[in-house]
Amino acid sequence: MSNPSILILPGDGIGPEVMAQVTRIIDWYGEKRNLAFDVSTDLVGGAAYDAHGVPLHDDTMAKAMEVDAVLLGAVGGPKYDDLDFSVKPERGLLRLRKEMDLFSNLRPAQCFDALADFSSLKKELVAGLDIMIVRELTSGVYFGEPRGIFNEGNERVGINTQRYTESEIERAARSAFDLAMVRNKKLCSMEKANVMESGILWREVVTRVHADYPEVELSHMYADNGAMQLVRAPKQFDVIVTDNLFGDILSDCAAMLTGSLGMLPSASLGAPMDNGRPRAMYEPVHGSAPDITGQAKANPIACILSFAMALRYSFAEGAEADRLEAAVEAVLADGVRTADLLGEEGVTPVSTSEMGDAVLAALD
Ligand code: NAI
Ligand code: MG
Repeated sequence: MSNPSILILPGDGIGPEVMAQVTRIIDWYGEKRNLAFDVSTDLVGGAAYDAHGVPLHDDTMAKAMEVDAVLLGAVGGPKYDDLDFSVKPERGLLRLRKEMDLFSNLRPAQCFDALADFSSLKKELVAGLDIMIVRELTSGVYFGEPRGIFNEGNERVGINTQRYTESEIERAARSAFDLAMVRNKKLCSMEKANVMESGILWREVVTRVHADYPEVELSHMYADNGAMQLVRAPKQFDVIVTDNLFGDILSDCAAMLTGSLGMLPSASLGAPMDNGRPRAMYEPVHGSAPDITGQAKANPIACILSFAMALRYSFAEGAEADRLEAAVEAVLADGVRTADLLGEEGVTPVSTSEMGDAVLAALD
């Protein structure tokens, strides 16, 4: 049998800098854990535009459809800000999400003990926090028609449409219930069924899907209350499932409970492939960070933890994912900090590659 395959798309700015550390970790798994991957690397975003005049070449798109998982760094940067909308770096990312049909976006908000002081909340509210937000990613108000800015009488009107089909809700719900089953069997669904018909349908479909997962404790919450509860008592949640718009906001909010952007991974999953695993792309939540590009300051942990998610969800290597997460935790507990994690007095920050060294040493 051939090795599992990974397509690496480092992208722009700090993307290649953080991805270089992940590549070292992938190599470590091949050498030390007998877990070898077939890795290929290609261009996305501004880097692809510079080479091909498009933010994602068709050949790269085709490769992404063939591999077991895509790992992406980040795209964009000031150099590309004035490009036409159709060739902007972000379009490369959007094309990947759309053509791979990645409808389920997993955003963990996990608080490492060593960083609990970083939270904007009191330490006791976030210490040990470990929640997962599942955001529907390919439908809802960001895609619904009609949309646009139209003339109406003597003024203009801006229109977007929140639209969800039952099947779109159902597949997002199933992916959240599947996750709940391998976590703590607790799921909270958030919408605004009090004021939105799409929310009424959302609640109905999630309730119907629940019948297939009787072991999971399901609750429903209005999304505005959910926002309050997330900052009031976040540990009451385990898995949260919500639509594209609410998920965008709630996942950013939950993420910030745990500290730096440099720590946050994500997974975007689609329908099962022939191997039974979901089509998938893994990427840090942060962008290309042009303000620190080329200075060896970037924190590679978000990208490293994204690879840990790949181990868990694409390669069925949950124990190896635990191992990598434990290595990151150990490094943080040792006080190793990149510049974005500085808070304590008298700590000298390490560089991107020194953080990579520390994680590899902890893995050994
Ligand atoms: P950003 O996430 O790139 O940076 C925000 C702030 O966080 C900056 O001060 C940056 O230095 C810091 N930061 C981000 N990641 C870090 C890391 N790993 N270690 C240490 N510090 C880190 O967001 P921003 O500045 O709004 O956008 C910059 C560019 O990135 C833009 O072109 C934007 O379009 C693009 N972007 C791309 C995304 C993606 O590829 N998924 C997501 C967000 C933005
Ligand atoms: Mg957002």
